[in-house]
Amino acid sequence: MCGIVGYIGEKEKKHIILQGLKELEYRGYDSAGLAVLKDHKIVHFKAVGKLENLKEKTKNFQSKGFGIAIGHTRWATHGKPTELNAHPHFGEFSYIIHNGIIENFQELKKELTSKGYNFLSQTDSEVIVHLFEENLKNNEPFEAFKKTIQALKGAYAILLISKADEEKIFFAKNLVPLIVGKNDDDEIFFSSSDAPLIGLAKEVIYLNDFDLGYAKKGEIKLLNNSKSKALNYKKLSTSKLSAQKDGYRFFMEKEIYEQSAVTSETLMGRVFKDNIELENINDDFFDGICEIKICACGTSYHAALASSYLFERVSKIKCTVEIASEFRYKDPLLQNDTLFIVISQSGETADTLQALKMAKNAGLKTLAVCNVDNSSIVRISDEILLTRAGMEKGVASTKAFTTQLAVLWMLSLKLGKIKGSLTKQTIEKEIQALLKVPTVLKVDDKIHEKIRRLSKRYLHGHGFFFIGRDLFFPLALEGALKLKEISYLHAEGYPAGEMKHGPIALADSELFTIALMPKTLLYDKVKSNVEELSARDATILALSPLEFDIADDFIKTKGYEHPMLEFFEMSVIIQLLALEISIRLGNDVDMPRNLAKSVTVE
Ligand code: G6P
Repeated sequence: MCGIVGYIGEKEKKHIILQGLKELEYRGYDSAGLAVLKDHKIVHFKAVGKLENLKEKTKNFQSKGFGIAIGHTRWATHGKPTELNAHPHFGEFSYIIHNGIIENFQELKKELTSKGYNFLSQTDSEVIVHLFEENLKNNEPFEAFKKTIQALKGAYAILLISKADEEKIFFAKNLVPLIVGKNDDDEIFFSSSDAPLIGLAKEVIYLNDFDLGYAKKGEIKLLNNSKSKALNYKKLSTSKLSAQKDGYRFFMEKEIYEQSAVTSETLMGRVFKDNIELENINDDFFDGICEIKICACGTSYHAALASSYLFERVSKIKCTVEIASEFRYKDPLLQNDTLFIVISQSGETADTLQALKMAKNAGLKTLAVCNVDNSSIVRISDEILLTRAGMEKGVASTKAFTTQLAVLWMLSLKLGKIKGSLTKQTIEKEIQALLKVPTVLKVDDKIHEKIRRLSKRYLHGHGFFFIGRDLFFPLALEGALKLKEISYLHAEGYPAGEMKHGPIALADSELFTIALMPKTLLYDKVKSNVEELSARDATILALSPLEFDIADDFIKTKGYEHPMLEFFEMSVIIQLLALEISIRLGNDVDMPRNLAKSVTVE
């Protein structure tokens, strides 16, 4: 977790660092800090809470003229979100910022403490700066930095500045992202992702694991495993347009409204009358595949679960789904006839990335469904299907989810065709439905207004149950996740038919049940399950195209003839419901407490 930025150049450094951190705030916002080395002096500032606080603290500080600077926005792992635990951490004359986790920090800390080093923070990161200064006693700065990095176990993106060498930013990367960029003016930039670099850097290098080096004006030195490495620059896009709110109250709201447009992009050039073409993925990539295993986290895991119904029902291929953090440690039995799919919005989620590496090492074919080109997951996978949702800024994922499902539906059809499990007519029919997704995802103003009004009745209670069956069970999980993420109300997603095996004991008028009742899948079964809850006085909000008298509140859906279209329609409704409840509760929808957009630690 955490976001880091760095800069070498003439411009106002405070400004560049704060701007960069603003773009990265989605990665964590417990605290933030920056340090500037200029005219033989290092000045640093730290502030707890959102970036605004750091901005306020630095308002009278100026840092124009040649110098170097680093900045950090934190999502706490070791140590509470306090000013002392905020980055940069410093020794006598050096400062570091770090994203990741140093697993052997306790041993290193013990050793350094015994040598007289004084630790101010409870973080794992602080060992890095003291170790560097210890190594400096017998080495020149770059050698000392290399020795420091060699001693670290774990995940890191590190930037270090020191009065021992005032022109350089030393950097190292393993398992979490770090990008270095430059422009024609010999300015150098560092960042955890592309966004802060747009408009500043012209070309960037996406660093690989075990890359380390230093940068100074007009020069970047890069090593990998102690060997010099060529600088592999890529051009950086220049558009910042996607990063604005466009008049919506929150990025999440904007992103809900964008779903229609971005799924059009997702389908573009991939869907034909009776065929699906998935970029460069040749049909023979799927030769010998008898099973699919999907790994993901959070919302992406819910997309995975939903798609497993498609792979089994449509493609007729066995499909299992695993939570990446569980999969990593269970010594899974992996067979070469399994296609290993990972799903990730960011492409940087540590658990998903590790699961992917395990599958690759076991010799499986791998495919990533991902939203961020050039992300770690994209770079490692054998094949990639980009979701093309554009930058997603709201921590609560929305358009990533629906575009993932659009891609996975396409893939299930493609596989069904290759495996001969679908007739020509069925494929054509499925494709006709698929092409309707952008229309289905258009937000209906009347429904939004109804949800806004309804939301006032759902601000309390002792719990929410989102219930559904089949494909709509993963959607129920997603509905509950959206609500708890941004409203802080307790919510669970449950298979409707399973309520009678325990949760129904909770039913009373303060138990809010959101019932997903599509007409195309098991309608009567879900209806009976809801009736059982209603008989025990649970408050019911039903989503269905078919009138349902028993419901206390009812949102009438359009009643599309395909379960996936009903699925997409209800996806928007559960997102809007969470949004409106959260807004009424006065929460910061885009930056819910304790969460981060991209989780690059275990
Ligand atoms: C974080 C985010 C979630 C997201 C999950 C997986 O927890 O807050 O919204 O679903 O990570 O992220 P990924 O980028 O791998 O889809």
